[in-house]
Amino acid sequence: MDEYQLVVTGERIIEPESGYSGPGTVYIKDDSFFKVERERPSEKQLKELANLTRLIDATGLIVGPGLIDMHVHLREPGREDEETILTGAEAAAAGGFTSICCMPNTTPPLDNYGIINFVVERARSAKVRVYPIGAITQGQKGEIITEIGDLVEAGAVAISDDGYPVMNSGVMRNAMEYARMFDIPIISHPEDLGLVGSGVANEGFNSTRFGLSGIPGIAEEVMVARDIMISEFTRCALHLAHLSTAGSISLVKEAKSRKVAVSCEVTPHHFTLTDDLLESYDSNLRVNPPIRTKGDVEAVKEGLKDGIVDVIASDHAPHSQEEKEVEFQAAPCGMIGLETTVGLVVTELVEKGIIDWMEFFKKLSLNPATILKLQGGRLQVNAPADLTIIDPKKRWVVDPKRFKSKSRNSPFIGRRLKGKAKYTVVAGKVVFEAES
Ligand code: DOR
Repeated sequence: MDEYQLVVTGERIIEPESGYSGPGTVYIKDDSFFKVERERPSEKQLKELANLTRLIDATGLIVGPGLIDMHVHLREPGREDEETILTGAEAAAAGGFTSICCMPNTTPPLDNYGIINFVVERARSAKVRVYPIGAITQGQKGEIITEIGDLVEAGAVAISDDGYPVMNSGVMRNAMEYARMFDIPIISHPEDLGLVGSGVANEGFNSTRFGLSGIPGIAEEVMVARDIMISEFTRCALHLAHLSTAGSISLVKEAKSRKVAVSCEVTPHHFTLTDDLLESYDSNLRVNPPIRTKGDVEAVKEGLKDGIVDVIASDHAPHSQEEKEVEFQAAPCGMIGLETTVGLVVTELVEKGIIDWMEFFKKLSLNPATILKLQGGRLQVNAPADLTIIDPKKRWVVDPKRFKSKSRNSPFIGRRLKGKAKYTVVAGKVVFEAES
């Protein structure tokens, strides 16, 4: 019998590309998938394998291609007290992610060859794969586009000014023309700063009730509409980040019906939290875009269900305790998410019948891999052996003491969840194994 690096066998292997869900065995050799079989070995073969190699018997667990979080903020360089490339990767592994894509809004931003190269070099010793996303404009100032070819050559898989919008439509048009030439998508952070004004919370009944200045849904929607139009005009692939309103989802639905090259993502906080929670003034609820109304949450879930929403991404945004322990209006935007995303998706979407496990692996693995042209997302012979093995029945409580992230800014602390990564496997190596 052949010697393998790792063999994983289970009753439920999910192949999101072919649509297969059922018993299977995955054989890994030299960091790659060597064989993927749609059956389990006999008891005798299992015993033999167990003597020769590391064997994971995933009975009762769900095995799928490694999860990819295409929207993560690591704070290196600049704010290593909040997160580093290595601690972010450690949090990702614990959360079940085998790959993460890091946004460029570091200090300084990821806007040139040297700094993208720095991330790539640092990431070599990280537990998971880290793919940098380069800035669209120099210094993320929205004025002069970066040397996109250099960024791609250094390893950027997309460009985005995430954290900030590109307010000038001419600049966005030029960026899309160039991104198309380099065959990478533009990731838009859709936000019109003129409409945001001094807003800190979703504009509506609750912002008035709690005395918080409002950000209207149209601050997002006008930019979604604009970027769809520029994408249609330039024929550049557009990915819309962190959509949060019913209006945005219907704009994407309409654009997709016209075959515009558009994809979009939503975050767990935008399908679980509503703005009535702001009664607590918990600064961990301050996020950009803001948490919205029940109607918006329902529309986001509907978009997830009917396939309009392609991707679920955490928008992991670490912030220090000192900076978050201030009044709501003064706090920086963002919450961490790498270690709570799987639990929230299983509890709020899979358990409630909004998406099934096939869709889970599409939105968290296959689709991000396809959009960014990454090698993962598939259980395919010769592909890199990245796997996420999930315990769908595991009940747990979000406990900040267990976070691997350097930051603690999560509004989900204390929340009871069901579903957690049991093993995270990168290039055939188990980089995370849950304790019990
Ligand atoms: O809430 C957010 N935090 N939204 C963003 O767009 C940026 C992010 C951050 O970097 O903290």
